Amino acid sequence: MFEKGKVPYSEHGKPESLLDICLSNGIHLEHACGGNNACTTCHVIVKGGGDNQLSEMDDDEADRLEMAPGLTLHSRLGCQCVVLGDVTFEIPTWNRNYVSEGGGSMNLGNAIPPPRKPETVPA
Ligand code: FES
Repeated sequence: MFEKGKVPYSEHGKPESLLDICLSNGIHLEHACGGNNACTTCHVIVKGGGDNQLSEMDDDEADRLEMAPGLTLHSRLGCQCVVLGDVTFEIPTWNRNYVSEGGGSMNLGNAIPPPRKPETVPA
């Protein structure tokens, strides 16, 4: 059960994101980049409630999500989508299997591109 404003921040992903709520409730959701929108290991597939119950996807999440294996029309990055109400989601099988086989957070080293920096306009 999730009560808005009552979840202690896990310091991974946006506050009250799916990742934040999962970690605060003992549910392991992979998050190799620490919830910084720099990998796709927190990929989830929304099964119910989605559009009105999650924050709107911003361009940075959409750009990163395009790199996720098994992408669907209902895919989101757990660290970027903030929960607004009841939502049901699935962790893709390849990710669940990785965890059940004893995997921890993956260290992808330099394979993870750094987050985009805001563009600057010359004066
Ligand atoms: S944990 Fe890396 S993008 Fe969400």
